[in-house]
Amino acid sequence: MAEQSKKWVLMVTAQAPTNIAVIKYWGKRDENLILAINDSISVTLDPAHLCTTTTVAVSPSFNQDRMWLNRKEISLAGGRYQNCLREIRARARDVEDEKKGIKITKKDWQNLHVHIDSYNNFPTAAGLASSAAGFACLVFSLAKLMNVQEDNGRLSAIARQGSGSACRSLFGGFVKWVMGKEENGSDSVAVPLVDEKHWDELVIIIAVVSSRQKETSSTSGMRETVETSALIEHRAKVVVPKRIIQMEEAIQNRDFPTFAQLTCSDSNQFHAVCMDTSPPIFYMNDTSHRVIGCVEKWNRSEGTPQVAYTFDAGPNAVLIARNRKAATLMLQRLLFHFPPNSDTDLDSYVIGDKSILKDAG
Ligand code: DP6
Repeated sequence: MAEQSKKWVLMVTAQAPTNIAVIKYWGKRDENLILAINDSISVTLDPAHLCTTTTVAVSPSFNQDRMWLNRKEISLAGGRYQNCLREIRARARDVEDEKKGIKITKKDWQNLHVHIDSYNNFPTAAGLASSAAGFACLVFSLAKLMNVQEDNGRLSAIARQGSGSACRSLFGGFVKWVMGKEENGSDSVAVPLVDEKHWDELVIIIAVVSSRQKETSSTSGMRETVETSALIEHRAKVVVPKRIIQMEEAIQNRDFPTFAQLTCSDSNQFHAVCMDTSPPIFYMNDTSHRVIGCVEKWNRSEGTPQVAYTFDAGPNAVLIARNRKAATLMLQRLLFHFPPNSDTDLDSYVIGDKSILKDAG
């Protein structure tokens, strides 16, 4: 590489969707490696509406690693970025582009610097799992650039070190993050539960209650919960293991009533442990509570659930409708209860299906 011109730039662009947990991850047993205290299950969303697009570039003319998030330069100093870069560089392989006359050896990668440009098409850090799509996309695009030959399961263990929930965005459809047992985290990986086309009738509506940045990040929130909540251990050791088994079965059987009951209960329990934290953490607001009331009332009046709700570390509602008809009726109800331009209106709606990871090549 040394003799080659300093003018070349090699680039890769990738797109990764975000995911929403239906059985939540909340609490770490290892902060540095990001190892969870319980398994979790999520659904990956349609990248047309909620995704990160990342372009990674390498050139001998770059003299340091740099990153831009939503067009603003951010620091790569944090351990999470460094951990991901280090793990990918350690697996880098020879790359040759004959047309451009570029040859990079495994060894060259240790001294070459990268520029990373990442863009979210949805509010960052508003409880819409932006870090999940962000780190999944970062790891996936760097792996492509550096010709890393590992499968998405192995890559998920690297994305996990950027943000826990990111490991699940390496796959489409329903995905489980297995907490694993190993101290080095080698078995703490994401696994797809079903084919990504499985249960395609489901429609996901995101009611953006507020696109403002949340006050307590997931990282510090879950740390405080683990340190102070008396309920979290019971949740992680007793409640979640049972729910994981039941949820896997409900997904396999496309059993919407069980799926909805588990999804809503798990979201509510997650917010209960947040409230059981000292000082208490309130991610939902009055509008979120009213959305829950609206769904619960409608589900009861229908005799069988039409829609499941779940809220991550923010006030925005993720509503999973059993089919298109239920989604349309849900939207009508939301528009009726939260009329646009009223005191209680919602910021926006996003509707989409389940998705697959896209490589923009
Ligand atoms: C409520 O993955 O954002 O969305 O691992 O510290 O980066 P870190 O946390 P993060 O937490 C996500 C929490 C959650 C539940 C979930 O996605 O499972």
